[in-house]
Amino acid sequence: MKCNNCILLLTFLCSFVDAKSSLICTDGFTLINNKCLKLFSTPSNHQEAEKSCSRFGATLVTVKNANDSQAISTITKSSAPLVWLGLYCFDNYPSRCLWDDGTGSAHMFSNFSNGFPLVQLGNCVYYSTRGVLAEKWLNSDCAGNRMAYICELPPTFKDNCTHNYNGFCYTISQYAKVPLKAQESCQKEGGNLVSIHSENENRYINTIAPVVDYFIGATWNFYNILKWIDGTDMQYTNIDLLNSNRVDYCTAMATKSGGAHSTGSWYSADCSITKQYICKRRAGVQCSMTSTTAIPFPEIPSNCNVGIQMAPGVINSRNLSGSVNCTYQLATLGPYKIALKFTFFDTGNDYVTIYDGPSTESPILGRYSGNMYEFTRTSSGSTMVVTFKSDGFGNQSGFNAGFSSIVY
Ligand SMILES: *[C@@H]1O[C@H](CO)[C@@H](O)[C@H](O)[C@H]1NC(C)=O
Ligand SMILES: *[C@@H]1O[C@H](CO)[C@@H](O)[C@H](O)[C@H]1NC(C)=O
Ligand SMILES: *[C@@H]1O[C@H](CO)[C@@H](O)[C@H](O)[C@H]1NC(C)=O
Ligand SMILES: *[C@@H]1O[C@H](CO)[C@@H](O)[C@H](O)[C@H]1NC(C)=O
Ligand SMILES: *[C@@H]1O[C@H](CO)[C@@H](O)[C@H](O)[C@H]1NC(C)=O
Ligand SMILES: *[C@@H]1O[C@H](CO)[C@@H](O)[C@H](O)[C@H]1NC(C)=O
Repeated sequence: MKCNNCILLLTFLCSFVDAKSSLICTDGFTLINNKCLKLFSTPSNHQEAEKSCSRFGATLVTVKNANDSQAISTITKSSAPLVWLGLYCFDNYPSRCLWDDGTGSAHMFSNFSNGFPLVQLGNCVYYSTRGVLAEKWLNSDCAGNRMAYICELPPTFKDNCTHNYNGFCYTISQYAKVPLKAQESCQKEGGNLVSIHSENENRYINTIAPVVDYFIGATWNFYNILKWIDGTDMQYTNIDLLNSNRVDYCTAMATKSGGAHSTGSWYSADCSITKQYICKRRAGVQCSMTSTTAIPFPEIPSNCNVGIQMAPGVINSRNLSGSVNCTYQLATLGPYKIALKFTFFDTGNDYVTIYDGPSTESPILGRYSGNMYEFTRTSSGSTMVVTFKSDGFGNQSGFNAGFSSIVY
């Protein structure tokens, strides 16, 4: 089957390379009670300790049950009297103490010493390994106090890949591709464009990815719902809320701060441009392909002359040809303005005109042709109209834009 705009879904039959497929730890961590732990004896404050763990994509140790507590005693072997936990208290209740790994509060399980949590002594929490307070949790000043700490990683399966985390291998592409081609490349390696299911996994990917932004495997469907291309559930999202312009159906991750998006956040990205990308496959398995099915990549409507569209949405000239006379009517709810962001613009002699209001009688916000770098125009009220006219459209690349609501 020949299809230029299709995702080929490959079906694999996989089996563990090692029949016993035992759990292992990477980076010199030790497997104890199904956790990978590593003790660092250099006294550090809480923030330094967190930072040190994040170099491995790890977090400070968390204690969710009695086994976890026992694991701490096992690894310290009483060599460190006190160790930091990855727990931060906002108030003097376990339910107001949150685990650093994003899994919630210490409400379900805790072992605070009598009279604790006590944030008057500090917001961070440490674990005492010996003495009368053995296995008890106490508060201390996050910045002022220094002690040993334990980093924690999830165990994984044996595999010879470079980035092996929590049962999966991750690869950072060397070359930039459009998402469709990127997905094909990932499939050739037995995986998919990466899906991300927790704060920890998101953080891990950030630590292995160098300094550019990458395509990830999330696509918006026609109804504005974000889906993972590998079919897994979207239980976790990290969309950049301050920068959430929907420009297209594809998604990229900002891996290092300094750009328009905060580190590790996801944003809507143009499906027709190329970027590097991240693939993910199961670790420790050997797969053979059993079948392929071609499914069309989400059709991207131009939304030319479709009537009023509520934010967020996209408008573009992609699916148009011949003579074109398009009006795009954009709207949002009363308390908001519309931000229209062009991610691609190359219209030759044809003009795109933006009106600040509900019709083409409204004041002109801007009139553009030719080749433009990425730009954004914002309405003064809750409506905006865009027109695009051409006598012989077909040769130019056209434009691609996304619009969303922003507060005054
Ligand atoms: C809680 O602390 C006590 C010491 O008071 C210890 O005996 C017990 O094992 C601890 N429980 C857990 C689950 O850590
Ligand atoms: C603790 O470990 C024991 C033995 O390894 C296991 O049977 C039990 O399910 C574990 N409990 C939890 C809460 O993980
Ligand atoms: C390890 O690498 C070799 C090639 O370098 C490959 O053939 C083999 O399948 C890999 N094993 C696993 C478990 O990925
Ligand atoms: C794109 O154009 C083709 C024909 O040119 C049409 O059949 C199809 O419905 C269009 N798709 C969308 C999403 O507008
Ligand atoms: C383009 O469409 C608008 C309304 O949809 C109409 O008023 C205008 O006359 C059209 N222009 C051309 C050149 O067809
Ligand atoms: C422009 O499009 C016409 C008709 O589709 C084609 O014959 C011509 O080669 C194109 N010109 C360029 C420069 O692509």
